[in-house]
Amino acid sequence: MKRYKLLSNQVFIENRKRFASTLAKNSIAIFNSNEVIPKNGDAYYDFKQNSDMFWLTGIDQEECAVVIFPDCAIPAYREALFIKRTNEHIAVWDGHKYTKQEATEASGIENVFWMDEFDGMIRAIVNMAERIYLNTNENDRASSTVPYKDLRFIDEMRQRFPLHQYERAAPMLQRLRSVKSTLEIEYMKHAIEISNQMFLRVLKFVKPGVKEYEIEAEVIHEFIRNGARGHSFSPIVAAGKNACTLHYIDNADTCNDGDLLLLDTGAEYGNYISDMTRTFPINGKFTARQKAVYNAVLRVMRAAKSMLKPGVMLMEYHAEVCKIMEQELIQLGLISVDDIKNQNPAWPAFKKYFMHGTSHFLGLDVHDVGMRYEPMKAGMMFSCEPGIYIPEEGIGIRLENEILITDNGCIDLMEHIPIEADHIETLMHQ
Ligand code: GLY
Ligand code: MN
Ligand code: MN
Repeated sequence: MKRYKLLSNQVFIENRKRFASTLAKNSIAIFNSNEVIPKNGDAYYDFKQNSDMFWLTGIDQEECAVVIFPDCAIPAYREALFIKRTNEHIAVWDGHKYTKQEATEASGIENVFWMDEFDGMIRAIVNMAERIYLNTNENDRASSTVPYKDLRFIDEMRQRFPLHQYERAAPMLQRLRSVKSTLEIEYMKHAIEISNQMFLRVLKFVKPGVKEYEIEAEVIHEFIRNGARGHSFSPIVAAGKNACTLHYIDNADTCNDGDLLLLDTGAEYGNYISDMTRTFPINGKFTARQKAVYNAVLRVMRAAKSMLKPGVMLMEYHAEVCKIMEQELIQLGLISVDDIKNQNPAWPAFKKYFMHGTSHFLGLDVHDVGMRYEPMKAGMMFSCEPGIYIPEEGIGIRLENEILITDNGCIDLMEHIPIEADHIETLMHQ
């Protein structure tokens, strides 16, 4: 049993149909579950499913694989799911694993086999295919050198079947996964709603003297009690100058009177993430300077949002946002017109205070897959998260909402979550 409501298997049936239609003729595609990663001793990290495997099947379990071979002469293998063979011993120690029937219900795949039948079945059908599509993590920010399952699987396949033509599945998945279906969007709204509840809870809790990790505890409490598996990413609970460290995750400091708190968190619900940032005064009242910087960030965010629509290029959009940010930084007295005139084009003046991107794709992963150098399309989801970081003033402010691209522009899916400075002050004083 999963703690989240299963997405209708129609989503995965449709996803596989979309994927299969992009395959070259007479191709087989194979995807694997992520593995359970060892920690120390006999302990393991919590399992997190491979996002492509989940997107294609809805299967949320280790030691599973899916084969998609639309032109296969044997109908049962045109779409076949392999799941870990379970038994009473596993049931007693590790709990319930999918039965074949449950795997069919989750995925919509009729032909379900045990994983120990996988090797024999591949041998039986692979020679009917000319091309083999295999998967890797092509996220261009990924820098791990750990040889994960997909990499090892490619080696095994190339050893076993050296004369086939191998193809990359990842670019197809990137394009497909970046456009969300209506049901996926509804589902992601649920993760957003949990994040909203979390923020309202935190606003009531924060006061001078509390520790950042006490706030983290409030966050996870609200996530878990609402059926989230947990955080979408390591939560950033950053008081005062800590907010100027973009990936601050120590969350060990004290929240001081007069400082701001930057909270960048999101609930993960049924494998879909949410990603929200709010910044607010620890004592419930912004100083004039904090409010001026806050409102500058909010104006940039609103201007940025208004630019998001089909056809827009992410990099050009970001460049426009930077120009707006530049003007705000001048108004705040942080940079001057001369600084801009004399700037190094490789490191423009605004980067001293706004040094990250404005938006990234969202979905199953927090920095989700998508083609960054292709035009935006309806159904894509992006964060919108400008920020201004002034270490010398102990101020770091970022605001982040999730934006859905639509045929005629975009919808801010977090529009209803308090963001106006006055509104936040009012809520903190209730
Ligand atoms: N929290 C990660 C991000 O906002 O991109
Ligand atoms: Mn974030
Ligand atoms: Mn983000």
